[in-house]
Amino acid sequence: MKNTYRTALCVTLFGESHGDMIGCVLDGLAAGIPVEEEKISFALSLRRPEGNLTTARREEDDFSIVSGVLNGRTTGAPLTILIPNKDVRREDYAEMQAKPRPNHADYPAYVKYHGCEDASGGGHFSGRLTAPLVAAGAIVRAALEEKGILVASHIARIGSVSDARFGNVKTDFERIYMKKFPLLDENVRTEMEKEIAEVKAVGDSVGGVIETAVCGLPAGVGEPWFDSVEGVIAKAMFAIPSIKGVEFGDGFDLGKMRGNEAADELRIENGEVHISTNHMGGISGGITNGNPILFRCAVKPTPTLGKTLRTVDLNTMENAEIQGKGRHDPCIALRIPVVIDSVTALVVYDLMAQTYGVDWIVK
Ligand SMILES: Cc1cc2nc3c(=O)[nH]c(=O)nc-3n(C[C@H](O)[C@H](O)[C@H](O)COP(=O)(O)O)c2cc1C
Repeated sequence: MKNTYRTALCVTLFGESHGDMIGCVLDGLAAGIPVEEEKISFALSLRRPEGNLTTARREEDDFSIVSGVLNGRTTGAPLTILIPNKDVRREDYAEMQAKPRPNHADYPAYVKYHGCEDASGGGHFSGRLTAPLVAAGAIVRAALEEKGILVASHIARIGSVSDARFGNVKTDFERIYMKKFPLLDENVRTEMEKEIAEVKAVGDSVGGVIETAVCGLPAGVGEPWFDSVEGVIAKAMFAIPSIKGVEFGDGFDLGKMRGNEAADELRIENGEVHISTNHMGGISGGITNGNPILFRCAVKPTPTLGKTLRTVDLNTMENAEIQGKGRHDPCIALRIPVVIDSVTALVVYDLMAQTYGVDWIVK
């Protein structure tokens, strides 16, 4: 099992949903980056379940940083974040060891790890492991912010209810940056909540779409071909459990557009190059063009349902049924914006370090 991501900044993720601890190691951070525990706590609070439209599992995410920080700054040595699991209930998942939940990692993990995997609550595949990514992302996000690079997402869709699309990203950011339920149009919130409540009431779940922007990146970052900026962001997004689609700029809509509609025309303004529109999502040839990076992620409906679904019994090798026990999110899209922002920040940090050197962030 490989759990390390990227090159200049390596992120290794460890732990299981109902094990003792989850955490991550960040290797390759520059020395001297401020590490503020309040900022990490705040970011974790944005991911934490709250109210009756998210899972009933309640974790305090009482993290500790056990290496790589001295006197409030990174030392340049690997930084290790530990988060204990406290609200653990392994017994809820006993049946799933033999009866894999449709759309969860249970069956493929059973085949790959010969039944030795920890299947409780999805084990190592659980959305719970996104908490250390949010903690790590908070450190990097704050450092990028100092350099004028901001990452933010909003909930573009839940089921049949859509938010507005990004317009002027800089002003849009004022409404969504570091918000718990980030929306460009607050008026759609009630409808979204209603749709989640409706699926929850019948033991079902609902998917969503998250739209993300990165502002302040200069033109010229990234590599052509195999390490394109689209490629590295998409790879990182697909690592986040439940993300099943990623599109950049106008994405799949480009397939029905004319070239002149999609053209992001260039002009000179005050002696600088400007690109008027952003159909390409800020990336051409795999390299940033100076416009905000824009992308959308499709988040699938939660696999574990209160409804009964058909599955198999791997012990008896007979057909079987399963009804989800345990505590589950009826809509993952509600909790995922800060996860996407955090993982995007880690990728952006990595891209910048590759382009400008590891110490770029502290100069
Ligand atoms: C923040 C977050 C919360 C999640 N909550 C649940 C949940 O309550 N129940 C569930 O079955 N899956 C949940 N998931 C999704 C599963 O972890 C995911 O579908 C599973 O690991 C399979 O991975 P895949 O969807 O990428 O194929 C959650 C994911 C995230 C990111």
